[in-house]
Amino acid sequence: MAELSARQIALTALRLWRKEKHFADFIISGLLTKTELNVSDRAFALELFYGVLRNLTLLDFWIGCVRASGIDRDLRDILRFGLYQLLCLRTPEHAAVHETVELAAKKQRNVVNAILRTATRQRSELLARAATQPLFVRTSHPQFLVERWQQHFGDEHAEELCKWNNLPAPVYARINLLKIDRTKFLHTYPESRPLRDRSMFVQFNSLPSSALERGHCYIQDPSTAVACELLDPKPAERILDATAAPGGKTGYIAQLMENLGIIVVCDRDPQRTDTLKENMARLGVGIAQILQHDWTGKRVPPEITSVAPFDRILIDAPCSNTGVMRRRVDVKWRLRATDFLRMHQRQIEIIRALVRLLKPNGLLVYSTCSLEPEENEEVVRRILESSPDLRLAEEERSLPFQDRFDGAFAAKLIRSA
Ligand SMILES: C[S@@+](CC[C@H](N)C(=O)[O-])C[C@H]1O[C@@H](n2cnc3c(N)ncnc32)[C@H](O)[C@@H]1O
Repeated sequence: MAELSARQIALTALRLWRKEKHFADFIISGLLTKTELNVSDRAFALELFYGVLRNLTLLDFWIGCVRASGIDRDLRDILRFGLYQLLCLRTPEHAAVHETVELAAKKQRNVVNAILRTATRQRSELLARAATQPLFVRTSHPQFLVERWQQHFGDEHAEELCKWNNLPAPVYARINLLKIDRTKFLHTYPESRPLRDRSMFVQFNSLPSSALERGHCYIQDPSTAVACELLDPKPAERILDATAAPGGKTGYIAQLMENLGIIVVCDRDPQRTDTLKENMARLGVGIAQILQHDWTGKRVPPEITSVAPFDRILIDAPCSNTGVMRRRVDVKWRLRATDFLRMHQRQIEIIRALVRLLKPNGLLVYSTCSLEPEENEEVVRRILESSPDLRLAEEERSLPFQDRFDGAFAAKLIRSA
């Protein structure tokens, strides 16, 4: 089979994403592993695929402006790519139109050509019309989500948040002190840039493959440190990291414990648990006892009960991910208004299964990467109502439009003696 171009790969990925309902990252990385594209073509395929995914509503609005009659889905996908290049990337007209027409089946080429030429002629007008559209169209977000953020955060912050979600995410990494000290890291990887006020974190321009392979760092946003720092684990303690895969926080917890003590590490997903094991091996975490376990099941296995009660428990709960939308580009297209309450129930169920494994005076941190009160403050409130032996000691949150990092929430609960 002939090698696919960057544009063909991006289009194939979009069609697969639309039809198969897999995660966007999974689809595009699967396609890219099968090609021999050079680095810049790979980067272009990613830019096109994620750029179109980020801007779906806006691109469809423009398609509606230049084409009155209905069009089928495959043709729509091609036009989305063409208009993204013309109006968002500002690719020169010849390349954008010619290359997009080439993507179409022969019988559709005339239509694609005509629509893209019209869009080129009307470029300024199309851009001006977009600027007058409501926020959910201009920034391509589900309307219900924008409206709830406007209610929760106000119009200005909701707008900042939507724009933030559409920016490509920087590559941040946590230096892994279990393998290398900070000075040596910065010397070995001079392309890394330390973050102000976050001394354990650095920024890279692209994935630092060598540093990652050697376990010298782990890709994570600085907001993920908040929960671990509230947990404040000490060497020689017994910690339970209950919903832990792929292990970003486990690695940091082990570092804070200086690799002394025990961390029982669980996740219900077998594949993610395997990845977690690989990550812990690479990071040099020697104190993790890793097992697959689902907290909504009935029985807690002896591998856990034999180590309980725990000094500290981290529940980094499954959530709607609304705080990490700039990294998980397709999350916004999966979300439904009912998801927040559904997640709330699941989060409560997981916490209830875990509270009894905590020591008297023990500390439980509940965290999410959601911005939604149903999954954060409301969960904590309901847990406190039904568990009189728990008290809230502290709550922390990271809000993208305020803190300039991913969104995160963490609450520290203490069990009475
Ligand atoms: C937010 S992620 C954890 C991220 C992880 N703490 C890290 O820093 O890399 C939530 C995890 O909870 C797991 N999970 C969801 N429901 C669960 C359950 N009922 N029991 C155990 N694990 C669960 C998911 O498989 C997922 O890996």
